[in-house]
Amino acid sequence: MNTNPALKEATVHAYQTLRSQTPWQHEGTGILHHRVLPFATLAPWLADPTFMALYEKIQSNTLVDIYRCHELWSLAQQARYVEGDVLEVGVWRGGTGAILASALKDSSDKTIFLADTFEGVVKAGMQDTRYKGGEHADTSVQLVESLMVQLALPNTRILKGIFPDDTQAAIPGKIAFLHCDVDVYSSSKDIVEWCLPRLSVGASLVFDDYGFFGCEGVTRFCNELRNRKDMRFIHNLNGHAIFVKLF
Ligand SMILES: C[S@@+](CC[C@H](N)C(=O)[O-])C[C@H]1O[C@@H](n2cnc3c(N)ncnc32)[C@H](O)[C@@H]1O
Repeated sequence: MNTNPALKEATVHAYQTLRSQTPWQHEGTGILHHRVLPFATLAPWLADPTFMALYEKIQSNTLVDIYRCHELWSLAQQARYVEGDVLEVGVWRGGTGAILASALKDSSDKTIFLADTFEGVVKAGMQDTRYKGGEHADTSVQLVESLMVQLALPNTRILKGIFPDDTQAAIPGKIAFLHCDVDVYSSSKDIVEWCLPRLSVGASLVFDDYGFFGCEGVTRFCNELRNRKDMRFIHNLNGHAIFVKLF
């Protein structure tokens, strides 16, 4: 435990804020939001020049902040010992896909499958609060292809269409790592149902948007998945839900 008096004061202040400010929610969801301000200050990305140089190159191709990008980088590197390939569903302009592919290109022969409609979000429904469908259509296969060429990432393969409906047949075997960044409940559910029988023991599933206001469909789906006994669930406060397949 840290005995720094300033930190003690900050933690007391945080609890007082928690008690005094009203949480907010999309009406009727029961999913409560409040300002979350962790106090730890470790910033490992700053000590990782390879990551920082890569982030500089891809930051205009991603909607994902540097904290989550670094977590993807770190988790993908750890996936090199897990059997199977990497799947990202929800590529948009290729930023996070490039991070996953860069993390593994020199240390494994894994293929990084990058699946997107390239026509925006699909399957928005009653479980979702803000998404209606068609968001994030401002991208193209050519744009992502050229980013992968520019970054010398031949370990990537782009799948255009709704996943799993249109493009599942392109993936031959096990999955070591899933990055699911599709913004809505039903897409997340269909992707995970496809993945579950293909996951290796030790595989990680990372869901973007867990806890973002407006992405309650993803939060709902992850909260359902938490009940499985073969998965370890981690909520680390940065907008990722992380699951690890245990057996
Ligand atoms: C928020 S964006 C992804 C952001 C990206 N990971 C980044 O680095 O910024 C969400 C993407 O999910 C895609 N998408 C949503 N559901 C999908 C599905 N079932 N199959 C394929 N793509 C899907 C959309 O087309 C959109 O490009």
